[in-house]
Amino acid sequence: MEFPKLFTVGPVYVRDEVRQEMSRQMFSHRSKEYADLHASVVEKIKNLLYTKNEVFLYTSSATGIWESCARNVVQKKALCCVNGAFSKRFAQVIEANGKEVEKLEKPLGSAITPEELDSALSSSDADSVAIVYNETSTGVMNPLRDLLRVCKDYDVLTMVDVVSAVGGAPLYVDKWGIDICLFSVQKCLAVPPGLAAASISQRALERSEEAKNKGYYFDMKILEKYNKRNNTPATPPIPQIFALSKALDLIFEEGIERVWSRHKEVSDYVKSRCEGMGFPLFPEREYASQTLSCMKTMDINSVELLNKMAQRGYIIGSGYGSLKEETFRVGNMGNVYMNDVKEMLDVMQEVLKELKK
Ligand SMILES: Cc1ncc(COP(=O)(O)O)c(C=O)c1O
Repeated sequence: MEFPKLFTVGPVYVRDEVRQEMSRQMFSHRSKEYADLHASVVEKIKNLLYTKNEVFLYTSSATGIWESCARNVVQKKALCCVNGAFSKRFAQVIEANGKEVEKLEKPLGSAITPEELDSALSSSDADSVAIVYNETSTGVMNPLRDLLRVCKDYDVLTMVDVVSAVGGAPLYVDKWGIDICLFSVQKCLAVPPGLAAASISQRALERSEEAKNKGYYFDMKILEKYNKRNNTPATPPIPQIFALSKALDLIFEEGIERVWSRHKEVSDYVKSRCEGMGFPLFPEREYASQTLSCMKTMDINSVELLNKMAQRGYIIGSGYGSLKEETFRVGNMGNVYMNDVKEMLDVMQEVLKELKK
């Protein structure tokens, strides 16, 4: 990584090989060149997600796919698991699209447990469940596999936001039973922002077929029609698609499961070093994220700490929303290796000494 070194929580550091892919000459998205690129990226995403479901490319960020979920597959009401800013906004977007929302809400830093979800679903008439796998605002990784096991006992469709987990934490779409698995590319996949994708189950497509007032841009049946021709309804971000294709090749080269365990090792190290410096872990330890570390700042002024780190060339994520001053977030998404975090944390230790003088 060259300076400034990014330990952000998205967008993140993009490797040279990936950035270079974006400078290729353009062609029409109705050409054979595009169809070949589209088909190959869709196939790679299926491999990444361990799914045989259809995969659609969305010319939007992940928020666009939240809208697509709300309009196409939530029939009347969604049960939204809310334990941070992004899961809260997912619920807000569903409501803004005219659907009812019931919230299973937990305090910031806590995870949603299978028992709580079971209890909520047992008395709910929701037809869909919204879950954010990795709550980027608090650094909580919900026990997704166990939550999905609960969903199987109820006739509910599952919409899972894996934005800050995909490519950094275990994820098996078909084995775990995810109807819609949605993400954007600027986090652990380490691609510049502007593209999102989702795998969509047959059951979800059947719901979309019946849905009314879906609009056009995010209509899953229209996306499906074009996808069958290895195409998109409107002009896609071809540079980002080239970049994603390359980024996925690099992940497969390293090995998907190896990439997940690397994220875990690096993030465990960050957490223990930060704790050693007197910054306690913000989320419940059992559910702490492996793609970022959300740490409490205690008596240290976080703005000053992050500014001093930035002056030395190390960019760290600030706390999010109401946790802005109380926490900071060290991202280890994508291509952040052990030697990178060791170097950055050594510098943080020096900065901390200065701040305590
Ligand atoms: C968990 C999660 N979901 C959704 C989003 C929104 O994604 P986008 O900005 O790609 O729309 C973010 C952004 O940080 C996120 O962290």
